[in-house]
Amino acid sequence: MVSFEKKISSKVLIIGAGFSGLATACQLRREHNCDDYVIYDRSSAPGGTWWANKFYHLPRTRTSRKSTPPRAEILEYFNKVADKYDVSRHIVQNTEWEGAYWQDQTSSWLVRLKDLTTGQAFHHDCKILISAVGALVNPNGFGVPGVEDFEGDIVHTAAWDEDMSLHQKDVIVVGNGCSAAQLIPAIAKEARSITQFIRLSISHSSRPPQFYLQNENRQIDDNWKSVFRYVPGALRLLRLAVFLYLESTAVRMSINRTGNKARNLSSERSKAYIQNNAPASNIHLTDDPIVKISPHSIFTKSGQEYPADAILLATGFALTQYDVELVGRNGRTRNQHWDNFGYKEAYKSTAMSGFPNFFYVLGPNSGKGHTSAIYSIENYVNLVMKVIAPVIQDRCSFVEVRPDSEKDYNVNLHEKIATTIFNNSCGSYFIDYKTEKNWFTYPWNSFVMWYSTHWDNLDDWVYDVRWLMKLLMSQED
Ligand SMILES: Cc1cc2nc3c(=O)[nH]c(=O)nc-3n(C[C@H](O)[C@H](O)[C@H](O)COP(=O)(O)OP(=O)(O)OC[C@H]3O[C@@H](n4cnc5c(N)ncnc54)[C@H](O)[C@@H]3O)c2cc1C
Ligand SMILES: *[C@@H]1O[C@H](CO)[C@@H](O)[C@H](O)[C@H]1NC(C)=O
Ligand SMILES: *[C@@H]1O[C@H](CO)[C@@H](O)[C@H](O)[C@H]1NC(C)=O
Ligand SMILES: *[C@@H]1O[C@H](CO)[C@@H](O)[C@H](O)[C@H]1NC(C)=O
Repeated sequence: MVSFEKKISSKVLIIGAGFSGLATACQLRREHNCDDYVIYDRSSAPGGTWWANKFYHLPRTRTSRKSTPPRAEILEYFNKVADKYDVSRHIVQNTEWEGAYWQDQTSSWLVRLKDLTTGQAFHHDCKILISAVGALVNPNGFGVPGVEDFEGDIVHTAAWDEDMSLHQKDVIVVGNGCSAAQLIPAIAKEARSITQFIRLSISHSSRPPQFYLQNENRQIDDNWKSVFRYVPGALRLLRLAVFLYLESTAVRMSINRTGNKARNLSSERSKAYIQNNAPASNIHLTDDPIVKISPHSIFTKSGQEYPADAILLATGFALTQYDVELVGRNGRTRNQHWDNFGYKEAYKSTAMSGFPNFFYVLGPNSGKGHTSAIYSIENYVNLVMKVIAPVIQDRCSFVEVRPDSEKDYNVNLHEKIATTIFNNSCGSYFIDYKTEKNWFTYPWNSFVMWYSTHWDNLDDWVYDVRWLMKLLMSQED
C-alpha cells in the first residue's frame, strides 16, 4: 500500500470504482490511449452500488439468465469489462477521498486520501480529477433513542451482512421505497414475522405513499439465447426496443394533459396490482412511527410494542456525496461556489467554473427516473472525454467551463424542471430544502441528453493557452 512520504501522481485521478469510474477508465484507454490513471474507492471490492447492495442476490438464480439479472450477474459483467480494458490493476480499494485543492502554479489538483486499513492519510497529485462517487451511495442514518441498546442486528440494505440469518426471527423493516420493495420478497419466507414501517425517515414533507408495479422479470430461454448469440445485431435491436419503450414512458413526468393521463393510468394499474398481490401472511405494515428501541423490541408513537430480533434499514440514502472538501481557484470551496450561484449545480452535470480540470460523472441533475443510469453515465463520460482531450494530449494545461454557459444551462434546466413532476409539488428528497431547488433530476429525455453530450462545440469551455504560447516562444528562441 502507498506510504505517506511517497509522492504519488498520475495524469488522471478517478474517485469511485462503480460503473461511472469503470466507464471513465475504459474510455480513457479507448479514446486517448491513456494508461496514466488511478481509481480510488473506499469499499473493499469494485462494482459500486451493485457490490454494496447485497440483498439483491438473496434469491439465488445464478443458473438462469433473466431479463432483469441478479446482482451476481451484473458484477460478473462489471469485472469482465474491467479486465478486458485492463482497469482492475488501476483500482486501489479501501481508500477514502477526503479533499482536493487546486494548485494554480502547477495547474494540478492535490488530492487528500486516507488508507482505511491503516488509517494513514496521504496525498496524490493529478492533472485531471474525476468525481465518480455515485448518486445513491451514503446510507441514511437511524437516530432513534435506545438504538445503542438493541441486541440484535441493525443492518442497512446498502451494507448487507451476508452471514446474517433471519431464520425464525421477528424482523423489523424500516422504509417502503425501492430497497424495501426488493428486500421484503427476498426475506419473507425466511423470517418468522416482518413488521414494516413506512415513511419514517423524512419528516419535512407529507409525501404520498409508494406505488408498486409488477416486475416482469422474464426468463430468457435457450431459443432466445441462441438468437442473441448467433444472429448479428439481434441483441442490439432488443436493447434499442427496450430503450425506446422506456423513453416513451418519460411523458409521465410532464405536468400537462398527456402526462396526467399517463400517470393516472399507471397509478390505477399499480393500485390493482397491490390490491391483488399484497401479502397477507406474516407481514404487518404500519405508519405508526418508531419512537424508542429496547434490547429486544421497538415501541411506536401509539404505544405499541413489537418484538424485534433484527432491524433492517431500507431508509435510502443521504445525498451527502458532494460534502467532500473541494477547494478551487482562489481558495473558493465548492460550497461557497454553490452559495454564490444560488443552488447546487454543475454545467451539464459535469463541471463548475473556478474548478478547472474537475469533472463529475453522474453529477448534480443527472438522475433520470425512467431509464438506465448506465446510459447517462456513458453520455457524460463521452462529454468529459471530448472536453479534456487537449489537456490529456498536453496541448493545454487546463480547461474550465465559462461562467455564462454554466448560468444559462442551469436557468434552462430549472425552467424545464418546473414543467415536470420533479418541481417539488409533492415533496421529495431530490429537493434541497435550503434553496428549494431540485439538484438531482435530469428533466429532458434521453435523446436530448445524447445530443447535448455528443454535439458540444466546445464554445462553452475555456482552455489555457498561456502554456502553449510559452512553448511556441521557447521554440522560436
Ligand atoms: C438500491 C439501488 C438500486 C438501483 N437500481 C438501479 C437500476 O435498476 N437501474 C439503474 O440503471 N440504476 C440503478 N441504480 C442507480 C445506480 O446508482 C447506477 O446504476 C450506477 O450503479 C451508478 O454508478 P456510479 O459509479 O455512478 O455510482 P456507484 O455505483 O454508487 O459507485 C460509486 C463508488 O464511489 C465510492 N465512493 C463514494 N464516495 C467516496 C469517497 N469519498 N471516497 C472513496 N470512494 C468513494 C463508493 O464506494 C462507490 O463504490 C440503483 C441504485 C441503488 C442504490
Ligand atoms: C406534454 O409534455 C410532453 C413533454 O414535454 C410533450 O411531449 C407532450 O406533447 C405534452 N402534451 C401536451 C398535451 O401538451
Ligand atoms: C384517474 O382518473 C379517474 C377519472 O377521472 C379518477 O376517478 C381516478 O381517481 C384517477 N386515479 C388516480 C389514481 O388519480
Ligand atoms: C409544481 O406544479 C404544480 C402543478 O402545476 C403546481 O401546483 C405547483 O405549485 C408547482 N410547484 C412548484 C414548487 O413549482
